[in-house]
Amino acid sequence: MSEHLMRLGASDLMVPPIAVGCMRISGLASRDVERFVDQSMQLGLNFFDHADIYGKGSCEEVFARAYKALGYKRGQAILQSKCGIVPGKRFDFSRDHILASVDGILRRLDTDYLDVLLLHRPDALVEPEEVASAFDQLQSQGKVRHFGVSNQHPRQIALLRRYVKQPILANQLQFGIMHTGMIDQGIHVNMLDEGAVDRDGGILDYCRLHDITIQAWSPFQHGFFSGVFVDNPDFPELNEALKQVARRHEVSPTTIAVAWILRHPARIQVVTGTTRPERLAECKAAYGVSLTRDEWYQIYLAAGNILP
Ligand SMILES: NC(=O)c1ccc[n+]([C@@H]2O[C@H](COP(=O)([O-])OP(=O)(O)OC[C@H]3O[C@@H](n4cnc5c(N)ncnc54)[C@H](OP(=O)(O)O)[C@@H]3O)[C@@H](O)[C@H]2O)c1
Repeated sequence: MSEHLMRLGASDLMVPPIAVGCMRISGLASRDVERFVDQSMQLGLNFFDHADIYGKGSCEEVFARAYKALGYKRGQAILQSKCGIVPGKRFDFSRDHILASVDGILRRLDTDYLDVLLLHRPDALVEPEEVASAFDQLQSQGKVRHFGVSNQHPRQIALLRRYVKQPILANQLQFGIMHTGMIDQGIHVNMLDEGAVDRDGGILDYCRLHDITIQAWSPFQHGFFSGVFVDNPDFPELNEALKQVARRHEVSPTTIAVAWILRHPARIQVVTGTTRPERLAECKAAYGVSLTRDEWYQIYLAAGNILP
């Protein structure tokens, strides 16, 4: 199992290339949450991604209950959560909000420390000195061991890095076969087409240059939670390509969708969103698949992208 671990950022924290997203688990029966958590752990997918807002906090709670009931020890899992969104009202990176949010996360996760805390979405009113002060306190109290961000632009990260002394280890961003803006702009540099539009300030290269692990959220979605592209009749060409490549590697299209992200040399960590134990195994099968350059581009093109 250990040969598949990767380093988070430049830290000594070794993590599985697939993180298990817990945003959708609050609707499951408690028995099914237990099956889901147990299967994750059995597969070695022991990195769980949470946020204080998922299920209004209930995702963290049901996860913690299941984890405890299964008898796993705290040290067997790597727990990540996020703060900074007050849904529908504001983004909030103030010191008080961050500290209060982490206390709530720790209470709901029934633990005394988080392995990783991410700032969820950029706050227009960010005062980086406040973030720095909050991170220092959380670290010195032993409440948070590592820090990162989500949905941030290179200059936003650069601003934080000027004040925050802990390394920013991760930036969680939407990325998958049908959400490739950060790759498109690198391919279409200086062209006049849609692919050249710079929506993220070159975040992919920035993260590679600064040892920040990109965590790919919504790896199976098209649009913003618009639905899954696998087996979706709206995307016949993509699904044909996925099936073709899947047949060649004797795996499923779902596995190929994960392998496509893992093939990128930036060493992107995939954050799955499935709530089904059997799909977790299908995702993990991607560890055994190494797509060729031709296959990777074939899928990229079949998703409707063009090369200049
Ligand atoms: N940082 C951020 O701003 C941000 C935003 C969104 C999400 N996230 C994180 O990213 C994680 C993943 O996001 P997501 O849930 O949108 O990801 P996703 O993996 O793209 O979508 C998962 C959803 O797709 C369904 N699905 C249907 N067919 C599937 C297939 N063949 N393979 C996989 N899933 C299939 C799943 O249903 P089943 O459950 O029935 O499999 C589930 O409802 C979240 O849990 C959360 O931790 C972060």
